[in-house]
Amino acid sequence: MQDEFLKLNQEVTDAVAQVTDLEALEKLRVEFLGRKGKMAELMKQMSGLSDEERRVVGVVANQVKGQIEGVFGEVEGRVHKAHEAQRAHEEWVDVTEPSIPPTRFGSLHPVTQVREELEDLFTSMGFLVLDGPELESDYYNFTAVNVPPAHPARDMQDTFYVGGQQNRVMRTHTSSMQVRAMKTHGVPLRMVSPGRCFRNEATDVRHEHTFHQLEGVVIDRGIHFGHLKGVLEAVAKHLYGEDTEVRLRPKFYPFVEPGVNGEVTCFLCKGKGCRLCKKTGWLEVFGAGMIHPNVLKEGGVDSSDYSGFAFGFGLTRLVMLKYGIDDIRHLEAGDLRFLKQF
Ligand code: DAH
Repeated sequence: MQDEFLKLNQEVTDAVAQVTDLEALEKLRVEFLGRKGKMAELMKQMSGLSDEERRVVGVVANQVKGQIEGVFGEVEGRVHKAHEAQRAHEEWVDVTEPSIPPTRFGSLHPVTQVREELEDLFTSMGFLVLDGPELESDYYNFTAVNVPPAHPARDMQDTFYVGGQQNRVMRTHTSSMQVRAMKTHGVPLRMVSPGRCFRNEATDVRHEHTFHQLEGVVIDRGIHFGHLKGVLEAVAKHLYGEDTEVRLRPKFYPFVEPGVNGEVTCFLCKGKGCRLCKKTGWLEVFGAGMIHPNVLKEGGVDSSDYSGFAFGFGLTRLVMLKYGIDDIRHLEAGDLRFLKQF
C-alpha cells in the first residue's frame, strides 16, 4: 500500500506540473484531495490492514498527503503569479503617450465677449460694474428716471407689464439702474451696468423682445458735457480704432437734459458712406446726456452741488455691427450653427 501512496504522489506531481490555470488546478484538487478523491479512496482501503501495517502505512500516507497539499499550494502560487503578469501585460497603458487634443467644448456668446471687453475698459477707467434686476419695479424703470405714470414717453418703449402689487415690469432699458446705483453707492459715482432688457416688440430682423444694453453713470462736482464726450470717444476709439470720431446730435430722452443721440464713424467705410451706415458715414450706437435734476433728486443727490452724465449703449447692436450679423433674432435663438462661429 505504501507503493500506492508513493505512486499517487508521483501522479499528482506530474498532473499538477502541466497546469496553467486555476480552474484546472481546482479540478485536480477535487480529483485527488476531494472527499471522494483518490487520496480518500486509498485511506479507506487502509481499514483492511492489520494494526501493525496500518501504523507503518499511516506514516507514509500522512507524509504523502502533506506533500501533495504542499505541491498544490506551490502550483497555485505559480499560476496566480502568471495570471497577474498576464493581466498587467494586457492592461498596460502608456502614460507617456501624447493625448488626443480635446474637441471644442464651447465658447462665450458674442454678446458676453463684447460685454466683458467693455467691462474691462470701464473698470480700467475706475467704473464700478453693477448687476441689476431684470424683473424691475415700475418705479425704477420709469418713474425714478423722470417718466411718471401716464407720461407720453412711456409709449417710446413697448413694455411687458407683469403687474402684481409691486407693479412689476420686465425692464425696458438698463437706465433702471441709474437711481438704484445712486441710492446704493451715493456720490461721487462712476458705474456701468450691463444686462438684458425686454420689450413687447413684433420681432423682425431689427427688433427682438430680448436684447442687451450697457448703462453708464458718472456723477461728481463739476461734471459737464465735455466729460461725457471724452468718455464716449475713449470707448468708441477702443472699440473701432483711433481714427473713430463721435458725433452727438440732440435727441429727447426724459432722463437727461440736454439729451443726445450718439453716433460713431462707420468702421466699415471709414465715414465715406456704405450699406452698413445707410450712406451716412455714421452708425448710431448710444443715447446719452446730462442727468436730469429730477433723476438726481430721486437718487438723493443734490443737483445744486452735483452734476452728472448718463449713457446707454445698445450692446446687442454693437455685437451685430462688429460681426456683421444681419438678423438680431440669431442672438437669442440658441442655434448651435450660429453660436459655434464665435
Ligand atoms: N434708455 C435709453 C433707451 O433704452 C438709452 C439711453 C439714452 C440711456 C440716453 C441713457 C441716456 O442713459 O442718457 O433707449
